[in-house]
Amino acid sequence: METVLSGIRPTGNLHIGNYFGAVKNFIKMQEKDNCFFFIADWHSLTTHPTPENLHSNVKKVLAEYLACGLDPEKATIYIQSDVPEIPEMYLLMNMNSYIGELERTTTFKDKVRKQPENVNAGLLTYPVLMATDILIHKAQKVPVGKDQEQNLEMARKFGKRFNHIYKTELFPEPKAYNFGEELIKIPGLDGSGKMGKSEGNAVYLIDEPKIIEKKVKRAVTDSGPTQMNQEKPEAIQNLFTLMKVVSTQDTYDYFDEKYNKCEIRYGDMKKQLAQDIIAFTNPFRERIIDLMNDTDYLHKVVSQGAEKARESASKTLNEMRKIIGFKKF
Ligand code: TRP
Repeated sequence: METVLSGIRPTGNLHIGNYFGAVKNFIKMQEKDNCFFFIADWHSLTTHPTPENLHSNVKKVLAEYLACGLDPEKATIYIQSDVPEIPEMYLLMNMNSYIGELERTTTFKDKVRKQPENVNAGLLTYPVLMATDILIHKAQKVPVGKDQEQNLEMARKFGKRFNHIYKTELFPEPKAYNFGEELIKIPGLDGSGKMGKSEGNAVYLIDEPKIIEKKVKRAVTDSGPTQMNQEKPEAIQNLFTLMKVVSTQDTYDYFDEKYNKCEIRYGDMKKQLAQDIIAFTNPFRERIIDLMNDTDYLHKVVSQGAEKARESASKTLNEMRKIIGFKKF
């Protein structure tokens, strides 16, 4: 059995793009691998959340991932700040991470450009903390999107460097992992590009039916096809892609045929799409609401998760301390 690990930033709500692009794979992975999924609340401090937001965001993502089917009996689900072994290892890892290489990281350079007023040291050493998250459980497989590839590369580098300096094979090389399937990219409702929180084009699992109807109604379309079987422009293709994941094949085929015959009425298609999205998201929404109200259960999940995570983390940390040369008097 291999070890899989992924961190979830506690920002915003889960949308259907997250669900099909990532969470659905987590659910599959927990069936066959030794999985660690954690909420990266220390990482989120780089953007200075208020105390109220910090807690409520963590609670929200926790409830949302559980509602999607992450199972505390199958995977270790924990909150990063419940594992004090992480900051100790982070301190150790910082000693062999160089300012130059950290400054050259694309994500860091992006932040410097986008938020020059808050270029804190936590941002600079973000890749060290992330490497620690991964290496502390000796994870081999890390399911992350393209935007995290450089951070993962750094984790490999730091792990290898430690092995090299101390002539050990403590850390395996963590690799990006996407379940061997092509990642489904869920488009947004604004005509182009991927669904994303910051783009304002997303349908959230927690959205009320009325909101979903409104969002789908507003989705970008065009004046309609003029030639039989003509290729679909991006905005229209996007609606079909969404339909493909939430509607039945019959429904999809029906509208596809209408399009190809130039008989499509986008209003009808949108009505159907909204209905099918609602049928898909509603059970999630209900579970999320139930879980948000069940503080006892959430407490149980994260306590059990923290215990399992600490057991694994302290094993690695003890090995590291010994390798580095710390000895008890
Ligand atoms: N940096 C990741 C993100 O922005 C979150 C994260 C933190 C993470 N630690 C991790 C992902 C370890 C995978 C493994 O989404």
